Amino acid sequence: MARSFDTRPLCPALGAEIIGLDITAPLDDETMQDLYDAWRDNIVLLFNKKDMTQEEQLRFAACFGKIGERPKPKDARPEDYSKLDAAFMLVTNIRENGKPIGTLPDGEMMFHHDTIYKERPHIGTLLYAIEVPSVGGNTKFTNLYKAYDALPDDVKQKIDGRKALHLYDYDRISERNTAEGAGDLLERYSHPVAITHPRSGRKALYVNRLMTAEIEGLSHDESEEILNLMFDTAERPEHVYDHKWTPGDLLLWDNFCSSHARTDFSDGEVRLLRRCQVEAESAPAA
Ligand code: SIN
Repeated sequence: MARSFDTRPLCPALGAEIIGLDITAPLDDETMQDLYDAWRDNIVLLFNKKDMTQEEQLRFAACFGKIGERPKPKDARPEDYSKLDAAFMLVTNIRENGKPIGTLPDGEMMFHHDTIYKERPHIGTLLYAIEVPSVGGNTKFTNLYKAYDALPDDVKQKIDGRKALHLYDYDRISERNTAEGAGDLLERYSHPVAITHPRSGRKALYVNRLMTAEIEGLSHDESEEILNLMFDTAERPEHVYDHKWTPGDLLLWDNFCSSHARTDFSDGEVRLLRRCQVEAESAPAA
């Protein structure tokens, strides 16, 4: 039977735009199955819906899994968030009384997986654009199935059965989080260096330049050499989609087979996006 929406590839590496579907209307089982398949096959889905409310975003997110807890601890949540549902993070450079009213406010951000530093990282993220700068502040995604496939065989063998340690400090988004600098880090966790995606059954690289500190059980130099090779492979232009935001865009991405980064933008322009996430059925596994 014909699908109730069309898809348009965003680039050869990954991503598809979903066209002709009102994501705020109730979606029947068949349409949902088609959306799951499109998400599994394309990794990043783009929708556009002007003036989407918090409730509409949460209702749509809940179609893809249990809504995940907001990753940044509650005590770091300014009072200005009072009208925001507890599941959301505002990703914004807006400040009140000199303080950011949201999270990840400014400038460039290196490639990372959302919540990889937790025992149960979120599989899905839904980021909705409310106001965006005229230039920059793009979000770039890399296809980590392609990155894994592109690794030399000896590297695949070296990482087989190994875990990597991930660290994260919300104030360090444009330099690598390493064990040496890990003073007040909020959280850390080790996961397999490559994981098998629970839905596609395919192997994906599960390390990133911002949060992966080391491969366990290797010397510092060997770990650095392999990690840098994997970061460079993941970030090759032919593996990457670069998304320039338009207000009303909603991106849904899969953190178990992609990582993402943000390009720089002017602090003279407002950038305001609303983020929620969905849980995986299980922790990432080799
Ligand atoms: C994020 O990693 O959730 C933020 C991405 C962005 O600001 O583009």
